[in-house]
Amino acid sequence: MEQDLYPPSAETLEGARIKSYDEVSKRAAADPEDYWAREASELEWFEPWTQVLDWQPPFAQWFLGARCNIVHNCLDRHLKTWRRNKLALIWESETGEHRNFSYFALHREVTRFANVLKSLGARKGDRITVYMPRIPEQLIAILACARIGAIHSVIFGGFSVDALHERIMDAESRLVITADGGFMNEKVVPLKEMVDQAVRKSPSVEAVLVVRRVTQQRPDLKIPMEQGRDFWYDELAALPIATRPCPCEPMDSEDPLFILYTSGTTGRPKGILHVHGGYMVGAYSTFKNVFDIRDEDRYWCTADAGWVTGHTYIVYAPFLTGATQVMYEGAPSFPYPDRWWSIISRLGVNILYSTPTAIRGLMRYGEAWPDRHDLSSLRLLGSVGEPINPEAWRWFHRVIGKERCPIMDTWWQTETGSFMISPLPCVALKPGTATRPLPGIDMDVVDEHGNPVPQGQDGYLVIRKPWPSMLRTLYKNPDLYKQVYWSKVPGVYTTGDSARKDEDGYIWVVGRMDDVIKVSGYRLGTAEVESALVSHPAVAEAACIGLPHEVKGNSIKAFVVLREGHEAGPELEDELRDHVGTHLSKIARPDAIEIVDKLPKTRSGKIMRRLLKAKELGQPIGDTSTLED
Ligand code: WT7
Repeated sequence: MEQDLYPPSAETLEGARIKSYDEVSKRAAADPEDYWAREASELEWFEPWTQVLDWQPPFAQWFLGARCNIVHNCLDRHLKTWRRNKLALIWESETGEHRNFSYFALHREVTRFANVLKSLGARKGDRITVYMPRIPEQLIAILACARIGAIHSVIFGGFSVDALHERIMDAESRLVITADGGFMNEKVVPLKEMVDQAVRKSPSVEAVLVVRRVTQQRPDLKIPMEQGRDFWYDELAALPIATRPCPCEPMDSEDPLFILYTSGTTGRPKGILHVHGGYMVGAYSTFKNVFDIRDEDRYWCTADAGWVTGHTYIVYAPFLTGATQVMYEGAPSFPYPDRWWSIISRLGVNILYSTPTAIRGLMRYGEAWPDRHDLSSLRLLGSVGEPINPEAWRWFHRVIGKERCPIMDTWWQTETGSFMISPLPCVALKPGTATRPLPGIDMDVVDEHGNPVPQGQDGYLVIRKPWPSMLRTLYKNPDLYKQVYWSKVPGVYTTGDSARKDEDGYIWVVGRMDDVIKVSGYRLGTAEVESALVSHPAVAEAACIGLPHEVKGNSIKAFVVLREGHEAGPELEDELRDHVGTHLSKIARPDAIEIVDKLPKTRSGKIMRRLLKAKELGQPIGDTSTLED
């Protein structure tokens, strides 16, 4: 275990909102409901709650009886203050254009978008699928859904047709919001074309709303529009009805806000369900305390709003706190590997929130690229998505943060909605650990009976008590919710991670214990990748494992059994890789494919991926008593 300790500098400590982790944690642990109620009362509610928590394990309800709308706190609340004319969003395109929005302007655009959604018949409770490139309208569309009480289901623009189709079907979306395309590395990503293919097979969809992006610059591109189904956003937004007032729909705090699909043990993605009230409180409180956001700050999260990081820490939390944020459309290495450092110096970014994979990737280009830019505006750094290896941590700290900026390594999940384990700026850091659970969060490392394991030993990372931004259920599948999260260890939420605790109570995440592989911080299920492979006519069976990778954290290796009459060879391997790319997502393409005669299975027919992995890594293969032969 790493023994390096980085205590907060005097400057960091002086500016810190919370000066003592121990003090606040102790108070929160003594009365978590009181702690969260105090955090919640910093926000505006249309009606107050009558009860903070109702806990019918494993189902929690927070702020019962209260009425609110998260968008009211993101936008409308600020219009009554000087922040009305403060910059909310600074957007930079890959080619270097800028679009800036004050809180006033963002409110106006969200209202307009909300009116257009209503004009297409969208109502409270409807599911709306959002499949957008990284442009301001991505955030505007999401906020507009929430404003009218519709439930957004955002699908990351890197997912392909089948994945999009499956998620539209599961949510039974009435409406899909997309763009005519997106730009990435100068190439056009044909989002509308993918939507057309996905929607053709999705009977629930009544309308497709298309935001103009690529045809503004490439009028030569023809975007087929289906009469009566497809609508250009700019045409509807120009109608007089679009500029009418559109107040926030008053929501019950437990009314659904969004569904976000994520991967797990099963082949089908799980719809994680979050609600207006508790999620809002979790996002607001964690962002304020961990990043110690200040009114004069410029904050930049490099994620895409299509993932939970983007939902909580781009779409919602920065606006909940009235912050100014930067959004960048393109690739980090466009046109050169100093694009990020250039953005930081040109736009004066104070807080940079990114991922270990991105840091490792940029690290490989050397220090000359960041050294060419003035990074002195930075005050604080953040990391998320997978354990950050100490080498990347130290590089980030020294080369980017100039040994001045603390790194907030934030551990959380799509399911948790907001940060769970993370330092506060006042906490002493150790490279490679997210330190301790935040105030109000009760987590531990335990054995299968729920007993804490001795210090330094691996165990299950679990959460003992409900927290406001927790998922409420899996969409349309409460039984699976119980089974996946609340059945492995009695009485507690299992995160799926294994971890150990050190002598200071710091939690070191070891990795996933289930069939999830984190590739570049993206969460993929082995079963999803396998089922994409098996949908190829040459494949009879497939098994996937994660192997350590220098930049991506993990890479996928697939073992494939071919159907009779198909020839192994590099051509087929390339074809299978592309097949996974087009049927699931480019991120899921296996780095290596090995054609085998058979896969190791248990007598009950389950593939023993553990054996494949042990063999690949040259480790002892362990207990094989359940192996078929
Ligand atoms: C899984 C959740 C939460 C936003 C992005 C990922 C891993 C996440 C860390 C971290 C070590 C981390 C865990 C977790 N993870 N952050 N700081 N240190 N591991 O969300 O896709 O739902 O994945 O990501 O394994 O369970 P997600």
